[in-house]
Amino acid sequence: MLIKRPADIRESEITPEGLYLDRRKFIGTSGQAVIAAAGASLLGACDASAETQQKEELTPLEDVIGYNNFYEFGTGKDDPAKNAKNFRVRPWTVVVDGHVAKPATYNLEDLVRPMKIEERVYRMRCVEAWSMVIPWQGFALRDLINRVRPTSRAKYVSFTTLNDPQRMPGLRYPVLDWPYREGLRMDEAMHPLTILSTGLYGKSLLGQNGAPIRLVVPWKYGFKGIKSIVRISFVETQPQTSWNKSAPNEYGFYANVNPEVDHPRWSQARERRIGEWLRRPTLPYNGYADQVAGLYRGMDLRRNF
Ligand code: MTE
Repeated sequence: MLIKRPADIRESEITPEGLYLDRRKFIGTSGQAVIAAAGASLLGACDASAETQQKEELTPLEDVIGYNNFYEFGTGKDDPAKNAKNFRVRPWTVVVDGHVAKPATYNLEDLVRPMKIEERVYRMRCVEAWSMVIPWQGFALRDLINRVRPTSRAKYVSFTTLNDPQRMPGLRYPVLDWPYREGLRMDEAMHPLTILSTGLYGKSLLGQNGAPIRLVVPWKYGFKGIKSIVRISFVETQPQTSWNKSAPNEYGFYANVNPEVDHPRWSQARERRIGEWLRRPTLPYNGYADQVAGLYRGMDLRRNF
């Protein structure tokens, strides 16, 4: 896989949006960028066999940036695009604390500069039964974890979103217990599919998608993908998460895509790929089972939903 840092990527090298929009891409269940049509330097090497590949089209950019869930900017699907238009993300700091050898408050640039930015084309499945295929840019969360060196007491990673009502008008309404929080078990956080994303479609993230840095965990429902992160804490016990706290019977801590466990108010067996008419069957772990099912061996996934 070809890897570049943001500072090393010249504007002329970034895949023009037109190419993204025109071309069919292959996404392999390896989860790495496996892009069929050559032509740009962000291409990944094809390492998934033909059988494991599935031809899927990228979701058009206008849907990726126009149909969002980001309650800090409003609860309507088009609110984040409208209300995050002028969202200021510089300067931005991320606190890394808890059970780590190297706790620190990083300027975003210092946090991201040493990391290997890659493109990952992932299927994304929202708990509301719609899905997209998105070309993310980001780096493996485990590379950051290895850098800050958690101690043996760190069993989970907890993430927190910015909590600034001046910049995020949705925070004035108590729709969730702010700030937005999410969490992963350490082995989920260390899994190579788990990334912190700083961009999509070859450009920096826009506010509505979680600028300047957000989590992407492709085998879990989208709500695990916490946006606009300001704190990453290494903790001993399972952390509180916003959705689990607001409706524990509807949103579990694990939130693995599981078509056999219905949401109490709707089925999770099928999904609507944004841009398509017919619903398609939802795949266990969103199609990444061969890579992640082992993390949950022995767990009752109806109870740990
Ligand atoms: N992160 C924060 N801070 N606030 C949110 O409301 N919504 C989640 C997740 N991350 C949310 C969030 C939900 S429900 C989904 S489906 C995804 O973001 C949507 O990400 P996208 O809009 O980039 O597709």
